[in-house]
Amino acid sequence: MTAPAQPRLLRALAGETLERPPVWFMRQAGRSLPEYRELRARATDFIAFCHNPEMAAEATLQPMRRFPFDAAIVFADILLIPRALGQEVWFEAGEGPRLGVLPPVERLAGEVEASTARLADIGETLARVRTELEPDRALIGFAGAPWTVATYMLEGRGSDRSAARAYAHAHPAELDALLKVLVDATARYLVMQARSGAQALKIFESWAEGLPEDVFERIVIRPHAAIVEQVRAAGVTAPFIGFPRGAGALVDNYAAQVPVEGVALDTQASIAQGRRLQAQGKTIQGALDNLLLRAGGSGLDARVDTLLEAWSSGPYIFNLGHGVLPDTPAENIARVVARVTGKPLSALAAE
Ligand code: CP3
Repeated sequence: MTAPAQPRLLRALAGETLERPPVWFMRQAGRSLPEYRELRARATDFIAFCHNPEMAAEATLQPMRRFPFDAAIVFADILLIPRALGQEVWFEAGEGPRLGVLPPVERLAGEVEASTARLADIGETLARVRTELEPDRALIGFAGAPWTVATYMLEGRGSDRSAARAYAHAHPAELDALLKVLVDATARYLVMQARSGAQALKIFESWAEGLPEDVFERIVIRPHAAIVEQVRAAGVTAPFIGFPRGAGALVDNYAAQVPVEGVALDTQASIAQGRRLQAQGKTIQGALDNLLLRAGGSGLDARVDTLLEAWSSGPYIFNLGHGVLPDTPAENIARVVARVTGKPLSALAAE
C-alpha cells in the first residue's frame, strides 16, 4: 500500500497509473508571475539570486502558493555548473546568458570536486523548500545535460548551436573530454541535491535536436547514462526524468538506453510514441505546447483533454513540451491545472 502522503509525482515515477496524473510545469518559477518580478527587482543580478537560498526558496514556492501543482522545481539555472567550474557566466538584461573564455579542459577537470562545494547554496535552497512544502507535493532538483551545457560553454551564449554541432564532428576527442568533466560535476551536483531534499532529479537536454544517430548516442545517451550510474553508485535512489528535447525519433533510442524512470516529451511527440514508451516501462511527461498555453481558449481545453485521454491509461505526468513563456497569462495556467486536477477554477487564485 502507498502511504497517502506519498507525492503523486513520485508514485507516477514509480510506474503507477493514477486516476489523474500529477501536474507541474517546466519553468513554472520565475517566468510569468508578477510576484516573481517583484522579488527579481530586489536581487542585484540573476546569479546572485540563484545563490541566495532565502530568495531562491521564495521563488520556488511562489507558483506552489498560486496553483495546486504536484511538484516544485528548485529555482536555479543550468549555467551555474560552468560558473562553479571556473568559466565566467553572466546574464545580459533582455538578451540572455554570456560566458567568458572556455578554460582548458584539464583546468576544468581539476575543479570538479570544488565545484560541488561552490554549489552548496542550491542545496540550502532545497532544504529550505522541503521544510516548507506540504508532504504530498514533491520537490524536483535538476541540472543541464552535459551536451546542452557544453553548447553554451563552447559558443559563449545562446545560439542556434551550429558551431557547437560542428565542433562535435571536427573535435570529437576534445568534446568528449569536456563532456566527461560535465558528467562528473553534474553527477556530484545531483547527489548533493538529493541529499539536500530533492526527491526527483531532472536532466534538461534542451538542445538535443539535429544530431545524427551515432553522435546522439555519443554525446547525449552515453553522458546521461553515466550520470544516472554515478548518482546510483553514490546510493541515491531518487527517480530521474530525462528530457531529450528535439530528439524526435531518437527519443526511442534514448528511452531504451538511459536508465531514467521518466522521459519528458517535447511538443512534437506523438501520442503513439508516448504510449510506446509507457508500454516499455517508462513514465512519460509532457507535451502540451507552451505557445498553446499562452494562447488559451477552447483549443487549449481540447488539447488538454486529448492528452489526458491518450496517456492517462499509463504512468504519466502532465506537463508542457517546453518551459512556460514569460508572457503567459496566469489564468491560462490556472485553467489547465483545474482541468487536470478536477479542482474548481474558482478555488484557484489567478488575478
Ligand atoms: O521555473 C523553473 O523551472 C525555475 C528554474 C530554472 C531556470 N532556468 C531559471 C531561470 C530552470 C529549470 C532553468 C533551466 C534552463 N536554463 C534551461 C533548460 C530549460 C529550457 O527552458 O530549455 C536553459 C537552456 C537555461 C539557460 C538560460 N537561463 C537562458 C537561455 C536564460 C535566458 C532566457 C530565459 O529563459 O529567461 C536563462 C535565465 C533564467 N533562468 C531566468 C530564470 C528565472 C530569467 C533570468 C531573470 O529573471 O533575469
